[in-house]
Amino acid sequence: MLDSLHRARTEAISKILGNSDKNSLEQIRIEYLGRNGRINQEAKIITSLTKDEKVEFGRALNEAKRAIEGALDEALSEREAVEQQSFDPTIPGILPPVGSTHLISQAIEEISSIFTQIGFTRRRYPEIETDWYAFEGLNMPKDHPARDEQETFFVEGGLVLTPHTSSGQLREMLSSKPPIRMINIGKTYRRQSDLTHIPMFHQFEGLVIDEGLSISNLLGTLDYFAKNFFGEKREIRLRPYNFRFTEPSFEVDISCDVCGGVGCKFCKQGWLELGGAGMVHPNVLKAGGVDHKKYRGFAFGWGVERTYMMKSGIKLGDIRTILSTDIRHLSQF
Ligand code: DAH
Repeated sequence: MLDSLHRARTEAISKILGNSDKNSLEQIRIEYLGRNGRINQEAKIITSLTKDEKVEFGRALNEAKRAIEGALDEALSEREAVEQQSFDPTIPGILPPVGSTHLISQAIEEISSIFTQIGFTRRRYPEIETDWYAFEGLNMPKDHPARDEQETFFVEGGLVLTPHTSSGQLREMLSSKPPIRMINIGKTYRRQSDLTHIPMFHQFEGLVIDEGLSISNLLGTLDYFAKNFFGEKREIRLRPYNFRFTEPSFEVDISCDVCGGVGCKFCKQGWLELGGAGMVHPNVLKAGGVDHKKYRGFAFGWGVERTYMMKSGIKLGDIRTILSTDIRHLSQF
C-alpha cells in the first residue's frame, strides 16, 4: 500500500537534490505536488482502505508532501545563496557622475592665464566697497550717472556692492609701487535683471602703470589678448568714448568673425563691442598715490560673461540661465 508512495517520494527528492535550476525545480513541484501530481494520484487509493490503514496512509502521505516541499525549499535557498556570492570584482564599476568647471570659471581661468603669460599679476579685491573706491577716487563726483540709485546696490554703513572692478585700480595703486601690471577678475553688482543683464556678473580689469606708456601699449595689449582669446585673425579697434577715470577713453570693438569686419547680419557694422579702456586719468593716479608726472597708466574693464559668449558663440536667449543650478544645463559646458 505504501510502496508506491515511498517510491514517488524518493524519486522526487532524488530529482531535487543537486538541482539548482529554478525552472526545472518548479516543474518538479508541479509534477509531484501539483493538483494532478504524483502524490495526489497516489492518494486516490485511500477510498479503498480500511479505517486503520487510512490513518497510516494519511500520515505517510503528509510526510511525503512535507519532505518534498522541504527539499524544494532548500534547493531554492541554496541557489539564492550561490547567486549572491557570485560577485566578480573584476567587472568595471559604475562611475559616479563627474562634475566639470562652471562656464564662468573656465572663462576666468583662460583670461587669467593669457594675461599672466605677459607678466600681469592676478588679483582679487573686495566685493563690498566704500563710496571712495567705487566712485569718488575714480574721478566720479557725487552727481555722476553711474552712481544712480537705480543701478547701485547700497549696503549698510555707506558701503556699496562694487559695480565694477575698477575699484581694484585704486587698491592696487595704493598697495604696490609701479611698475604695475594687474589683472583683477571678480564679481560686480548692478541693480538690473533682464534678458541681457544679471544683477551679479564678472569683470576683468587690467591696469598697467609704468614710465612712458602710450595708447599704442594699450592697443598692443588688447590686440594680444584678442588674438589669443578669440583667434589670430581677429582685429581690435578703439572708438572714442567717455569714462571719468580715463582720458582719453575708448570703447573697444573686435572684428566680427563671421564677416571679418565688412558687415553682416550678425554684427551689422562688422564690429562687436567688447568693453571700455583708456589712459588712466591723472586724478586717478593722484588718488592712488602715483606720481602722475613720472608715470602713466592704461586700463581696461570688460565683462567676463559677455566676452566669453562672443568667443564661444554660445547664445543664451536669457543670460539669467547662466546662474542656473540645473545640472542638465550646466553639464553641456
Ligand atoms: N568700469 C567700467 C564699467 O564697468 C569699464 C571700464 C572702462 C574700465 C574703461 C576701465 C576703463 O578700466 O579704462 O563700465
